Amino acid sequence: MYFCTYIHHTMSKRYTITAALPYTNGPLHIGHMAGVYVPADIYARYLRLKGHDVAFICGSDEHGVPITIKAKNEGVTPQDIVDHYNANIKASFKEFGISFDNYSRTSAKIHHETASEFFTTLHAKGEFIEETNAQLYDAEAGQFLADRFVVGTCPKCGNEESYGDQCEACGTSHNATDLIKPKSAITGATPSLKETKHWFLPLDKHEAFLKKWILEGHKSDWKPNVYGQCKSWIDDGLRPRAVTRDLDWGIPVPVEGADGKVLYVWFDAPIGYISSTKEWAQKEGKDWEPYWKDEDTTLVHFIGKDNIVFHCIIFPAMLRAEGSYILPTNVPANEFLNLEGQKLSTSKNWAVWLPDYLKEFPEKQDVLRYVLTATAPETKDNDFTWKDFQARNNNELVAIFGNFINRVVVLTNKYYQGIVPAPDEFSAEDTAALNAIQSYPNILSSSIERYRFREASQELMNLARLGNKYLADAEPWKVVKTDPERVQTIMYVALQISAALAVVSEPLLPWSSQKLKTMLNLDALSWADIESRGSLLKSSHQIGEAHLLFAKIEDSEVEFQLEKLAKSKLANEIANKEIESQKETVSFEDFSKLDLRVGTIIEAKKMPKAKKLLVLQVDTGVDTRTIVSGIADSFSAEEVIGKRVTVLINLAPRALRGVESQGMILMTETADGRLVFVNPDAAHDTANGLKIS
Ligand code: 2FM
Ligand code: ZN
Repeated sequence: MYFCTYIHHTMSKRYTITAALPYTNGPLHIGHMAGVYVPADIYARYLRLKGHDVAFICGSDEHGVPITIKAKNEGVTPQDIVDHYNANIKASFKEFGISFDNYSRTSAKIHHETASEFFTTLHAKGEFIEETNAQLYDAEAGQFLADRFVVGTCPKCGNEESYGDQCEACGTSHNATDLIKPKSAITGATPSLKETKHWFLPLDKHEAFLKKWILEGHKSDWKPNVYGQCKSWIDDGLRPRAVTRDLDWGIPVPVEGADGKVLYVWFDAPIGYISSTKEWAQKEGKDWEPYWKDEDTTLVHFIGKDNIVFHCIIFPAMLRAEGSYILPTNVPANEFLNLEGQKLSTSKNWAVWLPDYLKEFPEKQDVLRYVLTATAPETKDNDFTWKDFQARNNNELVAIFGNFINRVVVLTNKYYQGIVPAPDEFSAEDTAALNAIQSYPNILSSSIERYRFREASQELMNLARLGNKYLADAEPWKVVKTDPERVQTIMYVALQISAALAVVSEPLLPWSSQKLKTMLNLDALSWADIESRGSLLKSSHQIGEAHLLFAKIEDSEVEFQLEKLAKSKLANEIANKEIESQKETVSFEDFSKLDLRVGTIIEAKKMPKAKKLLVLQVDTGVDTRTIVSGIADSFSAEEVIGKRVTVLINLAPRALRGVESQGMILMTETADGRLVFVNPDAAHDTANGLKIS
């Protein structure tokens, strides 16, 4: 006994698993979950099940420009925004079952202290370059234009909507002054240049090290997409990067002469992993340092592909410059998830929001976890569709996994009052099944340890498939009539498969795993238990009643979701209609020359041979006159008779197709693009400008 415990302890390793700190300016969506949090959670749960010492760390990323922009737009403070979304995000993670050991926030005191100290240490060691140079400045707003406060053309790919710090089209990260044709995101003005002092991390100084560490050291164990991005960065040549900003939201730069300056969000955010670990250790009465400083610790960062450069180049350079930290062992970044063939977008509301999902599909956390894992964008961008979601639920979770478990539990209750029967002699099929059970932990380990979670989800389903097939072939419901003893063996074997599924499904399907364990009345079993013995449920063990693990998803549920997306699409089309830019200013004097009257159309007919023109007789109050109007596309002659309209009566007359038009009827557009009269009797809530027809 003592010997066993001893072995167990020497094999237990320490892991620090981080998941990207989400920006606190919106709720979570399926892209976040598929790219970062579901795989990180599977990994952390797996390691715990293997008996390792795990710190699974996350928190809210509460600084940065987008949060201040959102606050400004909504007329609230940045603190209001982060307080709201920190609570929202934290609740979603919890409800979804992401098993963080600690979830902190970068506005926490411990983080401000940790990040300040980190900066001070590098500063004291002479690891920064101080430089005063010209930065983009918006004179109208009285503000420097850091990061997302400026939009312009990406110098690398030509995307016209690149941000100051990063281009979302090509993933390049650059300095705001590199942008071609920059424009202020605050006022739209073309910025000027103004001198300001900043602190730079000289990445070039770390280039030789990074080359050796990544390009030579991690060529075979980092994912090709991650390695490739790093290589292209390093090959391009690394340059000093400013780690401070002229902003009023963030962590004040903790040195003399830095008034009004804060740490760059990407300097402080990754330090958030460290402060969150400290916060956790304090609560648990542990020492945080081994999790970040002991060479035996495995540090793994789970992130999306837009975060690669920060986690593989900049943060490691910071850690190394500091000197006392370990570097990540791996950074298994995922590519992006699309939704129904289109890029996920917060601003276009093209997303499946986690809070909505949790409300609309209660107790179906595992379904989404499973689908996001089975279609995870591990090596390339991938697509989430509601049809696929339904199919994977109905054809895999329900028809294979759920169906197998339900049959086993129902039959065990029916034949044996829920008591695990004693087996008789094992047939070749029985032995094959029992051996397979023992091999599955290894199969799954191998996938999970190589960050192949998609593969793991399919292997897990294969074990359920094996169980389903075993039962279908053995047909206990038939055999029971002729050979009840044989059925005892069949059910015994099927119960062992069920128990194995309950244990190995925990990392991927934690909620279902728990339900299944409760159904089987199963004590906590570890990964090793399955590997060492095929028999997990002893005969005479009492199991519980059958409850469905998974339920069918109906067409109507999928249609409801697709309709929601169709609404977003329509709203976007309306919002994205080209807006004509404003014409030159007219003086009040000029404007008052216009003689606008309310009139009534008393006669109307189509202009012969002209598709668009109606010839109207309009009673203007001063007279009745002829006006030719280009509205025949939208209105028939009959329907406009009697309409009250706004008329410009002193427009110089002009002849259209030989008819003299003596004025103009004012028209406007509704939100969905229909042409309507500027009707003096109706309120136009959605009119977006007069249009003269
Ligand atoms: O891309 C993002 O959502 C960032 N907030 C990730 C930060 S990860 C870390 F460094 F904190
Ligand atoms: Zn670009």
